[in-house]
Amino acid sequence: VADYLIAPSILSADFARLGEEVEKVLAAGADVVHFDVMDNHFVPNLTIGPMVCKALRDYGIKAPIDVHLMVNPVERMIDEFANAGASIITFHPEAATHIDRCLQQIRDHGCQAGLVFNPATPLHYLDYVMDKVDVILLMSVNPGFGGQQFIPATLDKLREARARIDASGLPIRLEIDGGVKTDNIAEIAAAGADMFVAGSAIFNQPDYAKVIADMRAQLAS
Ligand code: DX5
Ligand code: ZN
Repeated sequence: VADYLIAPSILSADFARLGEEVEKVLAAGADVVHFDVMDNHFVPNLTIGPMVCKALRDYGIKAPIDVHLMVNPVERMIDEFANAGASIITFHPEAATHIDRCLQQIRDHGCQAGLVFNPATPLHYLDYVMDKVDVILLMSVNPGFGGQQFIPATLDKLREARARIDASGLPIRLEIDGGVKTDNIAEIAAAGADMFVAGSAIFNQPDYAKVIADMRAQLAS
């Protein structure tokens, strides 16, 4: 997959004006809406659930919604988010008892399925399910909060994940989440990522279009 996708994390958006924020960031050139779901159990923070996803669809948001589940257990949230309009659903393998079944459950809903790897979680969870994932998401921070620093060891892990994807011959997206900025996105892409989540880098600036254009310029260089 040669093209790059920019997926702003709405965790850093103004939740009091969420519909407008999502519209604005899509108009600014974003490809995908990254939707962080935290349960105060798998991660130490509490965010938004399927009702908010459905509210964005009802508000008129047509772009793909990439639901990143940081919840345990995951099974029920898969059904709820699929019914609420999710396009992609990813979950952490440590949070699921039946990883293969959950991936299948996501695809049965017609959504794209993915596994998310915490910084210290090994990629071997992929060994027997490569044919069941559409997305591999590597966390480059420990999940729970926006605005953290990119962990450099993730670059080697990206190269390893890229090699696995290329060896599989499958059209799997390699997504990166955490600490992605204009000044490191080129290096991250060179390590193999093709889908970039960015929360604070976009929403903490007044001009979302400028940040996204700067990121694309870095990716083209
Ligand atoms: C962290 C979330 C990320 C987060 C990224 O747990 O999964 O999506 O919002 O935020 P930044 O881009 O600020 O690191
Ligand atoms: Zn995320």
